[in-house]
Amino acid sequence: MSEVQVQDLQCEHQQFIAELGDWKRTHGCCDLTAADEGRDVCLMGWAQYRRDHGGLIFVDMRDRDGLTQVVFSPEVAPEAHRTASILRAEYVFAIRGRVRLRPEGMINPHMKTGEIEVVVSEWKLLNTSKTPPFPIEDRTEVGENVRLQWRYLDLRRPRMAANLKLRHKVAQCIRRYLDEGGFLEVETPILTKSTPEGARDFLVPSRLNQGQFYALPQSPQIFKQLLMVSGVDRYFQIVRCFRDEDLRADRQPEFTQVDIEMSFVDEEQVMTMAEGLMARVFRDVMGVDIPLPFPRMKYDEAMLRYGVDKPDTRFGLELVDITDIVRGSNFKVFGKAELVKAMKVEGGERLTRKEIDEFTEFVKVYGAQGLAWIKIRADEWQSPIAKFLSQEERDGIARALDLKVGDIVFFQAGEAGMVNAALGNLRVKLGHHLGLVPENSFNFLWVTEFPLYEYDKEEKRYVACHHPFTSPAPGHMELMRTDPAHAKARAYDMVLNGSEVGGGSIRIHSGEVQRSMFDALGFSRERAEEQFGFLIRALEHGAPPHGGLAFGLDRLIMILSGMPSIRDVIAFPKTQKATCLLTDAPSTVDSAQLRELGLRLREKATEEKQQ
Ligand code: AMO
Ligand code: AMP
Repeated sequence: MSEVQVQDLQCEHQQFIAELGDWKRTHGCCDLTAADEGRDVCLMGWAQYRRDHGGLIFVDMRDRDGLTQVVFSPEVAPEAHRTASILRAEYVFAIRGRVRLRPEGMINPHMKTGEIEVVVSEWKLLNTSKTPPFPIEDRTEVGENVRLQWRYLDLRRPRMAANLKLRHKVAQCIRRYLDEGGFLEVETPILTKSTPEGARDFLVPSRLNQGQFYALPQSPQIFKQLLMVSGVDRYFQIVRCFRDEDLRADRQPEFTQVDIEMSFVDEEQVMTMAEGLMARVFRDVMGVDIPLPFPRMKYDEAMLRYGVDKPDTRFGLELVDITDIVRGSNFKVFGKAELVKAMKVEGGERLTRKEIDEFTEFVKVYGAQGLAWIKIRADEWQSPIAKFLSQEERDGIARALDLKVGDIVFFQAGEAGMVNAALGNLRVKLGHHLGLVPENSFNFLWVTEFPLYEYDKEEKRYVACHHPFTSPAPGHMELMRTDPAHAKARAYDMVLNGSEVGGGSIRIHSGEVQRSMFDALGFSRERAEEQFGFLIRALEHGAPPHGGLAFGLDRLIMILSGMPSIRDVIAFPKTQKATCLLTDAPSTVDSAQLRELGLRLREKATEEKQQ
């Protein structure tokens, strides 16, 4: 049947649409089993497939939880059978009927309700549906943009419905655990003041205070600390956070944190609580026992061995620092570099030129100029750079990496940050590319002893590595002033399979130390007072020692569900360009609305919009 004919039918069928009347649903589409044989039931849902077979009409009725096969039989209910032929994909309908066992050979072991079917006695059409832009089933060929535009249909697909359910289960499990632990769920403002968490703020103009703006919270960090000063003692919130940053597969401009704060604790207590929470979620939701406590790794070691502060420890391919071996080398790229690192892939000699070219392109994203490599052959080192290396350098490299015939080694040389980022990320790519990442394995890791500061090249100053409320490590207070590059923080990140799923710290709870922190970050006393005076004053009024952490709920669900994108576990996500394809947000507003807010668009912005 052509598209036009189907749409015509759909219009015609509208006249058959009925109200629910006194019909009450007795079961969901996933509830009935052989034990219900003979039961009279009423089901409601969507038509998945209709098959007309030798006088019988079979329809799979679908709801959020599953499918039930309903049967229209000319013998049992001639009128229902006659009208059932109007049912089309995604029509909404209700049936009354009796459960019966499917005949031998018709049992579907892949379906929860596969042993039964419901023989219809009467039915009602509750609504028609236009032909959906894609079939409602897990396998779909359509692009993500189409799915996002028709998100409500996309969410009817079993996989997506399962993601929503998983998210719900995890959230409930977290609430139970924290409630049992004496945590109070407290809501904090969404219209608030900028909290620097490293990203740009989303701003909201104030109509009542023209020229002034609220910021949407990047996290409830300051409020949860204020709640500790209030004596709340143990706080949590499952809370939306907003960050105007460049988006990736695991980042959204609005995302959800499980935000936690505790009073009178040290990092051990926060980490134990957080491990317990993860173990509970994995046990209750996934049926997986996670061994406790989680392994720990210092930040410096993570950077050395993996090049990133969130190592995926499910596979090897560790990086080796060979700077000292090639210092002063004739190969200038190596000889003069701040850092030179190598990564061996055992048996990697089979990698093709095309693959190596692809990896070279990949590392360029991290600022690398190229990617040097050596294939270890029985007779020679095959490589564009081997000829530049002295025998001593070759021997040094072979020893440091324990090279064997058949291996390939990749090298990166240059500025330390770039080298680590390029090789560290290539390591992860290679791990997947070579199938080294075991499935269904959950490797948790705490990364500890983070630096207090990192140098911001653009701003040419030190900025807080975690956030400016993080306490320096014991004995490192003085370094805040004298040697910021070496000051360590009482901060910790929870890493799961190479993804940062949570992070936190013990906080500064002295007003004086907090002032010194702002000094160290280059804030004038006036600016510190203007932006954070309220926090410093609170710390000066009996703040208890406190600390906490926040989990990225979306990232956690993404890993639990095995979905490739964070967008698959959020009901209504934004695209990589931070737009909503369903509602078309963000959108322009009319000039009256702007005037009311005391705003006017700059000429340029207006012109760009018109182009
Ligand atoms: P942090 O900035 O590390 O810490 O954030 C905590 C966790 O939130 C998740 N996350 C994100 N998830 C999706 N999209 C994003 N754009 C995004 N940004 C962060 C990550 C991260 O580990 N206030 C502190 C917590 C604390 O110190 O207690 C904070 O926000 O999984
Ligand atoms: P060149 O001498 O610039 O042609 O580089 C020789 C080899 O070194 C090529 O294989 C490049 O891909 C590689 N290379 C260039 N720059 C770097 C770098 N910073 N680190 C590692 N390898 C590099």
